[in-house]
Amino acid sequence: MNIAIDGPAGAGKSTIARKAAAKLGSVYVDTGAMYRAMALLVIREGIDPEDQEALEACAAKAEISIEYRDGEQHILLGAEDVGGLIRNEDVSRMASRISANAAVRRKLVSLQQELAKRTDVVMDGRDIGTVVLPDAEVKVYLTASSRIRAERRRKEYLDKGEEAPELSELIRDIEERDFRDMHREESPLKRAEDAVLIDSSFMTIEEVADAILSLVPGEEA
Ligand code: DC
Repeated sequence: MNIAIDGPAGAGKSTIARKAAAKLGSVYVDTGAMYRAMALLVIREGIDPEDQEALEACAAKAEISIEYRDGEQHILLGAEDVGGLIRNEDVSRMASRISANAAVRRKLVSLQQELAKRTDVVMDGRDIGTVVLPDAEVKVYLTASSRIRAERRRKEYLDKGEEAPELSELIRDIEERDFRDMHREESPLKRAEDAVLIDSSFMTIEEVADAILSLVPGEEA
């Protein structure tokens, strides 16, 4: 029993996917974290993301893996837990750029498919319903307006006590990232034909989680 949740950045995929996995006793897999770990390596090695050859060599040697401790996903680069280093704007931007590369995708997609073969997963990303798990029993395309997503991002900064970029800057960043994710040649972000569309703009987290759980055969939301 696998659940695929795709959609643009900031639609609430990870919060919802984590909640749904806990309710179902499945494993939550955040595939964006894998692209982010790869992006961190590219930044550390000073590789130009436009240099396809260097990027492919870097993807070939990258040791990216996922470990679960106390039910939480930990993302490892070699033996290093990089979870605390991948949630910033530099890594976000680089992840969006390197995720357009076919070699990078091939490597991470096969890791994701291995995970789903071993256990029931709720997996979130951009190409889960279309490429990674085309046979997933439940597919959801979760979205929200770019303004709402930017407001959520701004609130995250403020809640952490950090200085937040202007809303207009966050909207621009989100729209640029959406455009890149939706228009790349390799596995662009799009709704799978059989995915259920949920717009979370005016829904609470609980309402979205309930809507997704109601799609799971035998589950009461
Ligand atoms: O979900 P996220 O924001 O953590 O993802 C980071 C970047 O990785 C995002 O720009 C799109 C890319 N990505 C992807 O191309 N395919 C996935 N399955 C997951 C993420």
